[in-house]
Amino acid sequence: MKAIAVYPGRKDSVHLADLPTPSLDEIAHGRGVLVRLLRCGVDGTDKEINAAEYGVAPDGFDFLTIGHENFGRVEAIGSNVTEFSPGDYVVATVRRKGSSIYDQIGTYDMTTDEVYFERGVSRRHGYLTEYYVDHPEYIVKVPDGLRDIAVIAEPLSVAEKGIIQAYEIQRRLKVWQPRKAAVVGSGTIGLLATLILRLRGVEVTAFARTPKPYLNSELMEAIGARYVSTRDMSVRDAAQTFGPFDLIYEATGFAPIVFEAMEALGKNGVLVLASVTGGDQMVEVPAARINLEFVLGNKVMVGTVNGNREYFEAAIRDLAMAEAQYPGWAARLLTHPVQGLDNYRQLIETLTSGNNVIKAYCEIAPLDAPATFDPGTGVATARA
Ligand code: BGC
Ligand code: ZN
Repeated sequence: MKAIAVYPGRKDSVHLADLPTPSLDEIAHGRGVLVRLLRCGVDGTDKEINAAEYGVAPDGFDFLTIGHENFGRVEAIGSNVTEFSPGDYVVATVRRKGSSIYDQIGTYDMTTDEVYFERGVSRRHGYLTEYYVDHPEYIVKVPDGLRDIAVIAEPLSVAEKGIIQAYEIQRRLKVWQPRKAAVVGSGTIGLLATLILRLRGVEVTAFARTPKPYLNSELMEAIGARYVSTRDMSVRDAAQTFGPFDLIYEATGFAPIVFEAMEALGKNGVLVLASVTGGDQMVEVPAARINLEFVLGNKVMVGTVNGNREYFEAAIRDLAMAEAQYPGWAARLLTHPVQGLDNYRQLIETLTSGNNVIKAYCEIAPLDAPATFDPGTGVATARA
């Protein structure tokens, strides 16, 4: 089968690779689920992997199939699978279990292992391909009614984790009821974090550099958030006018803004850091003041990465909520479809240099593509 792959460590090495079609018996005890991929989104992580700044090939391979924002349909199940039926729409988690105690209880997103496994990112092939086989533990069902937008579920799960963790941490306060939040960054994760907070009734001020109006600011305002360009007002100043911020979600990819967010956080507040920042940027900060205000204000700062199935399930629920409350909003994020795995160049070019890109994704197969599984051979062979 076809796969979009890179040679990790070699710049701009994206190419079309060929891999054997996976078979159900790759998973022991009849627990395999064979899924045909329908769509797969790309993001900054894929950009970094193709720029040779990130990403590791699986053992025994010199290439890595990229793509982690997956969406597909079950084609076949092992004899011991009760959770799914052929025809079910599904999304799979990204990380796989390591050896720490956190991995053992299903919270592999919290692993303390140095080496971690992420499909499409690190040591495991990803989803920009035709099929995958995996264990039901890592696969989450998607209602048919969400199939048009479910390719956004993986990034939504990442945003969910940050916010659910923030609420979990704030149980320390016994009566915490966040009223005002700031979301710094209005890319996909910033938009999705804003959605989650709006669905919970929180007032959101969203920040980004670009002055409004443009698609992202319109999307923020469409769900009732206030959009502020940091060219007009700094996050620090906005906290005086629109705060105090009980929660700040940072998702710009620009590390220095973190320290400004620390200053903008209200008393007893929680600051969630979600940007995976490469490089070694340095910055000078008012250390004593930030520290003092954190101490006197009992503030918390937490980093967040990835998401386990709990957060994918939350993402699916919130997608359904979003469709009820803001019909059509999620679909507006899917700005740049690219047809077929063969157009991998166009996919990467759209991601790196496209205009007004919120989500670029590959349409691998039609959403109602017929099943291709051959029960005789136990593998899916026919091509659409
Ligand atoms: C992915 C996460 C992953 C993180 C770090 C993000 O782009 O969505 O699943 O954990 O990159 O590799
Ligand atoms: Zn990602």
